[in-house]
Amino acid sequence: MDINQIFKNNDSWVKDKINVDSNYFENLSKGQSPEILYIGCSDSRVTAEELMGLGPGEVFVHRNIANTVPNLDMSAASVINYAVGVLKVNHVVVCGHYYCGGVKAAMQQSDLGILNPWLRNIRDVYRLHKDELNAIKDENDRYNRLIELNVQEQCVNVIKQAVVQTAYKERGIKVHGWVFDIKTGKLIDLKIDLDEILKGIMEIYQLS
Ligand code: CO
Repeated sequence: MDINQIFKNNDSWVKDKINVDSNYFENLSKGQSPEILYIGCSDSRVTAEELMGLGPGEVFVHRNIANTVPNLDMSAASVINYAVGVLKVNHVVVCGHYYCGGVKAAMQQSDLGILNPWLRNIRDVYRLHKDELNAIKDENDRYNRLIELNVQEQCVNVIKQAVVQTAYKERGIKVHGWVFDIKTGKLIDLKIDLDEILKGIMEIYQLS
């Protein structure tokens, strides 16, 4: 790839935007008020805005390997605090994806160095749902299910944050678990019943 091509692409993108609205960038510079916080995987095939049909200014984005929200991750915590507490988004989305290399790696017995503690977050999800996962005989089905359960558990990790609990009480913020299927391009709502999950865990995680 010729890296200079990117600047040519950028030039034509700017022209396209200005052709439609000559104040497009001027208006963007005035500030942002996105409705959605999207937490997704760094995988190059899983774009954030593009797969949702959204553009600049419409979604606050956090991406890392296997869309995790680890307890001690100050980056994820800062993003969530800013998006929910300051920008006042009304929806938080955790979006996983089938064919996730991070989840695949966590299912294998190998020492991956610096990735070990990161992937341990996913191994912890496996341990929490070991009975369900081990009952799935087909390895690919088990892999897909772990991807879905990882999304569910990361949604729970989002709810552990005080700022989210406050926003839930004050304005009924919604947390959604989705999976993107790379093979079909479809976005799937896992329809995780967070109210039900919340009932079961808030005695432990409630902060206020
Ligand atoms: Co991934």
